[in-house]
Amino acid sequence: LRHHVRVSHETDGAALPDPLLAALRAAVGPSHVLTDADLRATYETDWSRRFHGVAAAVVRPGTMDEVAAVVRACGQGGAAVVPQGGNTGLVGGSVPRAAAPRDGRGAPRPQVILSMLRLRELGAVDQVAGEVTVGAGVTLGALQAHLAGSGWEVGIDMGSRDSATLGGMVATNAGGIHVLRNGVMRQQLVGIEAVLASGEIVRRLPGAVKDNTGYALPALFAGSEGTLAVVTRLRLRLVPPLPRRAVALLAVDDAGQAATFAAELRRRLACLTAAELFDDDGMRLVLVHAGGEAPFRERHPRYLLVECGAPDDPTDQLVEAISAVAARDAVVAGDEGGRRRLWALREGHTESVNAAGIPHKLDVSVPIGRIGAFDVAVREAIRAAHPLPRIFIYGHVGDGNLHVNVLGPDPDDEAVDDAVLGLVIELGGAVSAEHGIGVAKTAWLVRDRGEADIAAMRAIKRGLDPGDVLNPGVLFSDPA
Ligand code: MLT
Ligand code: ZN
Repeated sequence: LRHHVRVSHETDGAALPDPLLAALRAAVGPSHVLTDADLRATYETDWSRRFHGVAAAVVRPGTMDEVAAVVRACGQGGAAVVPQGGNTGLVGGSVPRAAAPRDGRGAPRPQVILSMLRLRELGAVDQVAGEVTVGAGVTLGALQAHLAGSGWEVGIDMGSRDSATLGGMVATNAGGIHVLRNGVMRQQLVGIEAVLASGEIVRRLPGAVKDNTGYALPALFAGSEGTLAVVTRLRLRLVPPLPRRAVALLAVDDAGQAATFAAELRRRLACLTAAELFDDDGMRLVLVHAGGEAPFRERHPRYLLVECGAPDDPTDQLVEAISAVAARDAVVAGDEGGRRRLWALREGHTESVNAAGIPHKLDVSVPIGRIGAFDVAVREAIRAAHPLPRIFIYGHVGDGNLHVNVLGPDPDDEAVDDAVLGLVIELGGAVSAEHGIGVAKTAWLVRDRGEADIAAMRAIKRGLDPGDVLNPGVLFSDPA
């Protein structure tokens, strides 16, 4: 039995029936129902550019009540709802399915993109609790700006901060660069407001950090990828800011050594906030695409970027800890410009790889102790599956999360994806670490989670969304 990553460029879009179009216009106002192909275009392809589908309309509600009205109308009118935030997804979960979901008679259902970008409420910071309530369409960058000077920060940060929305970050249970210190998005959530497939509202706001009143819906909706509910508002716990930062880039022999050094630095440095990995090919690509100077005179196989944050300047602590690990070379930056330049080498990867082609992006977790073995074996497996791949492996080494990016195979050629994900399962990892399953990895989900887990997940989906209104085709390729 072969397990495939499903990628299809076939597109079939069913039109909206007139009564549904009228109901959507009545719900949000005609100017927020976009049916023109040119206006829909940027909503129909995700950030990977590998996934694309035709929407019958893009609908832009401005309030929770409007979201509920849209979801209800779509459910009654037989349309599928594809919730979308900043559309920075990389697994096809935030854009319409290339092959539209079918109704009971086998006819394609229209797909409606539910853009959440107008839900931009920024609540006042609760200084006593260290929490804030925001609308689902607020970008991470806008929230960071809102919190500046408040004495608090968001626990999550990531390169797509200026586009990614907090609602989407809940839906995908986003990770990013500070997980080793603060955990993933699910762990920041205190309360939530969401619209169910029926149009009913569930609300637990403000919510409580300690809340043992039965099933935790915020935790369940985090990572449900828009298949169980549409998050409209959320309350996040905040973390104290660490205003003084220092960043170091270590040249290392291999990925295994990077993981070992990251663990050693974590033990020595209470201030450690990030531990990121990239390879020399990736760094060269970033330097060519974005410009900048190479940090070392010589080339090295792999690089480990670490950051410390503290109330007082942590540069000396960082330098001392680094001298205790036997890196090939190291540079440390305590000043803003130097820190930015080092971070740009890591954060420039997504854009630089995208500029060089349409990558196969495999976001995976492996047990941290096996990162070295994985990095070697996965390159061999990719080369066995494709004659001349360009391979860039980077990611959050402190969390055991690597992003395997491969240029060369056609977008529809799944051999490389199969080889990478097969190896992940063999090593006891997870086929998605932070980007989600989307439509890209639905077959692999079964193999990763096993039948009992899948049966439980399908029962939850059937219970909350019996009509398969919300993001059909994501997580499960067929109706639950
Ligand atoms: C990253 O860590 O840079 C993001 O997950 C995006 C990517 O994988 O390219
Ligand atoms: Zn990442």
